Amino acid sequence: MARSDPDGWLDPPELTDRDRLRKLQLERLRWTVEYVHANVPHYRRKFEAAGVAPGDLNTLADLAKFPFTAKQDLRETYPFGMFAVPMDRVVRIHASSGTTGKPTVVGYTQRDIDMWADVMARSIQAAGGSAKDIVHNALGYGLFTGGLGVHYGAERLGAAIVPIAGGQSERQVQLIMDFGATIISSTPSYMLALAEEFDRQGIDPRSTTLRMALLGAEPWTNEMRAEIEARYAIDAIELYGLSEVVGPGVACEYAETKDGPHVWEDLFYPEVIDPVTGEVLPDGEQGELVFTSLAKEALPVVRYRTRDLTRLLPGTARPALRRMEKITGRSDDMLIIRGVNVFPSQIEEVLFKQPSLAPHYQLELWRDERHLDQVNVLVEMKPEHDQASEGARAAAARDLQHHIKSLVGINAHVKVMATGTVERSIGKAKRVIDKRSK
Ligand code: DLL
Repeated sequence: MARSDPDGWLDPPELTDRDRLRKLQLERLRWTVEYVHANVPHYRRKFEAAGVAPGDLNTLADLAKFPFTAKQDLRETYPFGMFAVPMDRVVRIHASSGTTGKPTVVGYTQRDIDMWADVMARSIQAAGGSAKDIVHNALGYGLFTGGLGVHYGAERLGAAIVPIAGGQSERQVQLIMDFGATIISSTPSYMLALAEEFDRQGIDPRSTTLRMALLGAEPWTNEMRAEIEARYAIDAIELYGLSEVVGPGVACEYAETKDGPHVWEDLFYPEVIDPVTGEVLPDGEQGELVFTSLAKEALPVVRYRTRDLTRLLPGTARPALRRMEKITGRSDDMLIIRGVNVFPSQIEEVLFKQPSLAPHYQLELWRDERHLDQVNVLVEMKPEHDQASEGARAAAARDLQHHIKSLVGINAHVKVMATGTVERSIGKAKRVIDKRSK
């Protein structure tokens, strides 16, 4: 191991002992609610308005009495109003891209950074990585938590990290080949864009030293996983996380089961709620994922609403932990097309089953003259079918349209574009282009 583990966060005994885990969670939950009450006026005001006090938390179920935290709380207190420590203890700041309004700002003490490196190291280890690996990190560095999060985790594990970040695909291919990378971290959509670059250079992506990809930061389907695994002949493992909770490394799949990320529950307490009523749902039911941090100092979060839709299932590789089902989408990504609720992932699932279509897509929303919402699905033929006749392209479009109608329930307009014209991502893919006038 690269470093001793003074806090015992890398491999604590609680990961294999549910009774110890529950006891530790309660202790840490109590610490967190007391800590935010004492140090963050915004939490104190919210607790008071809800008529709860830290002393009301006596069992894990009591957490349901406490108010939720949402992105809005971070916006209202922008930039540092939710920090629980003075700035002299903050050693790092990250921020969300903030496509709408102000970015969300998150901060870390040195101890938070150490904890994050440990959970990321744990994640890489669960995914099958070790100190022997060379990790080619194609996640963005900068304000985004992906690049630096994986970076510190790989170093903590003692692996060699190649901090290339996203983009410059030509160079990525060269360095993967020259350095003999064994693990790649990326978004799933960029992983597929990179496969095209391998093809362009005439290198079979299955011929590299890569054996595993650690993928996350955006919703992706098991169909997309199958495509990536086949294109590269590797294991594609799911990594989950969000900046507000820490960054990548909140949960990760185990290589031996690949059946949904196991949540590092000793440090992040998960709940699934009904997104409309806010009621806590029993394990196994689908709803919105909510997290409470259990040991964070600079930006502790109590019941943070992720907007991610999933369910909590019993752990398999580690039965003491709970596992998340693959995320179908975010509640704010849901499209309502003529009364039918649709997630981009549902269209992805159908598209990836079409043998002649390439695995890149975007959805374009527009409003017709009758003010009804319409959706265009922009796709391409696979390069080997690019010379196909107009008739063959129209048939592929009709086929996809038919499957979307029968499996998703909407009338979509499928547009088969020229190869290379559907936008390729270098980080999180932009799946929806909204052309409706607001
Ligand atoms: O995307 C952290 C991350 C980086 C995770 C790299 C994994 C790999 P944010 O930019 O704050 O942080 O975005 C968080 O991304 O709420 C989900 O909607 C989505 N997301 C993250 N991981 C997954 C995943 C990073 N494995 C938001 N599957 C989250 C589906 C994911 N969605």
